[in-house]
Amino acid sequence: MSRQLLSNVCLFLFFLAVRCAPEEPITCSSANNKNCTITNTYGAFPDRSVCRAAAVAYPATEEELIAVIANATRSGLKMKAATRFSHSIPKLVCPGGEDGLLISTKLLNRVLKIDFEAMTMTVQSGVSLRELINAAAKAGLALPYTPYWWGLTVGGLLGTGAHGSTLWGKGSSVPDYVVGLTIISSGEVTDGFVKVRRLVDGDQDLNAAKVSLGVLGVISQVTFKLQPMFKRSITYLTKNDSDLGDQVSTFGRQHEFADMTWFPSQQKVVYRVDDRVSSNTAGDGLYDAIAFRSTASFAAETIRVREEMEEFFGDDNGKCLDGRVSTFALSKLAYGLTHNGVIFLGYPVIGYQNRLQASGTCLDSTDQDSICPWDPKVDSLFFHQTTVSIALSVVKSFIEDVQKLVKLEPTALCGLELYNGILMRYVTASSAYLGKQEDAIDFDITYYRSKDPLNPRLYEDILEEIEQMAVFKYGGLPHWGKNRNIAFEGVINKYKNAEEFLRVKEVYDPKGLFSSDWTDQVLGLKDGLAIVKEGCALEGLCICSEDVHCAPSKGYFCREGKIYKEARVCTRSNDQNTSILDAIDSVLGPFNEDKLVDVA
Ligand SMILES: *[C@@H]1O[C@H](CO)[C@@H](O)[C@H](O)[C@H]1NC(C)=O
Ligand SMILES: *[C@@H]1O[C@H](CO)[C@@H](O)[C@H](O)[C@H]1NC(C)=O
Ligand SMILES: *[C@@H]1O[C@H](CO)[C@@H](O)[C@H](O)[C@H]1NC(C)=O
Ligand SMILES: *[C@@H]1O[C@H](CO)[C@@H](O)[C@H](O)[C@H]1NC(C)=O
Repeated sequence: MSRQLLSNVCLFLFFLAVRCAPEEPITCSSANNKNCTITNTYGAFPDRSVCRAAAVAYPATEEELIAVIANATRSGLKMKAATRFSHSIPKLVCPGGEDGLLISTKLLNRVLKIDFEAMTMTVQSGVSLRELINAAAKAGLALPYTPYWWGLTVGGLLGTGAHGSTLWGKGSSVPDYVVGLTIISSGEVTDGFVKVRRLVDGDQDLNAAKVSLGVLGVISQVTFKLQPMFKRSITYLTKNDSDLGDQVSTFGRQHEFADMTWFPSQQKVVYRVDDRVSSNTAGDGLYDAIAFRSTASFAAETIRVREEMEEFFGDDNGKCLDGRVSTFALSKLAYGLTHNGVIFLGYPVIGYQNRLQASGTCLDSTDQDSICPWDPKVDSLFFHQTTVSIALSVVKSFIEDVQKLVKLEPTALCGLELYNGILMRYVTASSAYLGKQEDAIDFDITYYRSKDPLNPRLYEDILEEIEQMAVFKYGGLPHWGKNRNIAFEGVINKYKNAEEFLRVKEVYDPKGLFSSDWTDQVLGLKDGLAIVKEGCALEGLCICSEDVHCAPSKGYFCREGKIYKEARVCTRSNDQNTSILDAIDSVLGPFNEDKLVDVA
């Protein structure tokens, strides 16, 4: 069933007052959970392929999970854990081959135990960050640093090494607050084809299992070490970015929850001055991030059409104008902060940790007409996300390189401002083998992606140069759950304990049942990470080495970078070469038979 048709069905059901929550990432063609496909929340993997699996299992208890894995191991099936959100961009969720088994953690969604004395909490791996925060808060406890988006599961947070922002305490990484977990892996005949391992703080293997890309098995439950509930005080301060490179190293030491949002073409940076305050400080503030709120479908579609037009006509000034309007609106709305859930009357906003650390109210959308802004049910926002952590020791030079690019091309990065600027979060060295290697700043860069993979984007070259500088010149670590293929080129060599991780993988899953081409490629066990073909550089599937990897017929050729000469990027030459047919294509998307069928 095509997306368009599906949304028509939703619309129809809407009139019958039936709820139509965000779509399931897994769809099966037959009723008994057989013959399935899986995608991510954006409806497209980096290479836009569709992942297939023979079946999906929905275990609801650890015993059922054990039975499922034993059974699949006996049959030599490839397996992968999947979540109800599927929020990772790369193909981590795809089982190897086309006839593997998806093991969804959707029903493993219970809080098992809260121990206030020990300040620990044990949950099943399918519990969402939102549920974790709420259950902990009811017991007067809090996890101090988490992602800002709560539509993630505990298993997913660990699998990809998700983090918040801090340089303090035990650091920014959620996996570093794990003091125990149970992981179910494949076993030998003598084990009954399944192995259950209960790892606790101090076990070496925990350093492998707490950030594992899902290649060791399926985690059934996790125990976190929490803190007593506390309050925070948040003030956003907007400043000139001219001394950003100098500020970043000290700002994160001064404020526990510090982060920055950078608007490079406006030469502005918004510092989040964010500290713990005494619990008797008055305030019941709420953070409900604007970008994660429900959006009317038509509004998301309108924004998208506007962006498509600006892209097609090369209207960088239009983007800059829209960027300014959007930045102004965000600051007027205090980025989604209020004093009580309703109004904002000026900084600081003070409130409890559980109300300020994460949000994502668009997940509560109950009808077809209000969605998360990136919901693929309609032609809404569609973007790439380049998310790379750059060591504090070199981050100043990276920032200055980006500033030099802005000087050369002042309007090149206006497009980022339509996606709320570059979010910069502090991350810390982790004890996980595949966790952050040193204290760093994580840059979250979100930018336009064409629905047509062969369509270049405005200032393609500048964004590609920044991506290649981040990953290669400054040796940055790509977030496992985000990014385009090229960001993972040679990534495993950046982890000093990679060998240790691979040794544990060999013990836990000797037959590689939990591995796929993608995980083998990022772990350096298999070639083929770069997909070299016509237009591949446009989607970050390759680094261009020939013009055909860009879009020569549209005037984009493979050239060296402007600052980082080693970069190879798709640069637009001056003689514009687009036709009216390209225009139609660019605005309406490529010819799509599905849509004709739906209309008919
Ligand atoms: C599996 O699903 C695909 C579409 O997703 C369909 O074309 C195919 O016929 C199905 N196969 C079986 C055996 O049901
Ligand atoms: C075990 O595997 C068989 C065939 O592979 C399948 O039909 C059956 O449903 C599986 N049982 C469980 C509990 O997964
Ligand atoms: C930021 O500061 C620099 C140097 O002090 C100045 O040249 C520039 O105009 C300022 N930018 C803005 C947006 O105020
Ligand atoms: C412009 O387009 C024409 C026809 O598509 C093509 O032959 C020509 O090579 C293009 N020019 C450039 C500079 O790409």
